[in-house]
Amino acid sequence: MRRIRNLALMGFMGTGKSSVGRIAAAELGFEFVDTDALVEKSAGQSIADCFAQQGEGAFRALESAVVQALAPRERLVIATGGGLVVTPGNLESLRAHALMVCLWAGPETILRRTQHHTHRPLLMDADPLAKIRELLALREPHYRRADIIINSDHRPLREVAQQVIHQFMESVAREA
Ligand code: S3P
Repeated sequence: MRRIRNLALMGFMGTGKSSVGRIAAAELGFEFVDTDALVEKSAGQSIADCFAQQGEGAFRALESAVVQALAPRERLVIATGGGLVVTPGNLESLRAHALMVCLWAGPETILRRTQHHTHRPLLMDADPLAKIRELLALREPHYRRADIIINSDHRPLREVAQQVIHQFMESVAREA
């Protein structure tokens, strides 16, 4: 049984999930939560340290526990980590209570938005553009399972946020 009471943003790193999520939360009067921040809190360490010291498997297990803990919540805008929907069960769990909106961007845009950041272990690669292309290709089938896909390439994130809010309001109205 599905009842949409939250808005979840999924998609690759650098597609604008956190920025768009913060704007949408402020406008909807919802609380903004970021699964990366919740994992860091439960791990008691940064994502980079968690990957380095415990490995990606441990990070993914913490991420799934965070997803489960969100199930009873409402009036949330949830920004999800880029790989979260790849782990079996996570997308299904979120879908039960959240509209799943995927933000999409091409590899060059993603590189431009992420290249000066060092907190994403998966992009700490000698050839980050090739890594982005590889991961995007692997993940595309998962991202396509969203309710709605919105392109954030070459568009101000504020405009993307307006479109996300519009889609959310329409979904909630349809359910009522
Ligand atoms: C990851 C994306 C990151 C973070 C971790 C792994 C991924 O989140 O969860 O570094 O697998 O794509 P953002 O998408 O918020 O950067």
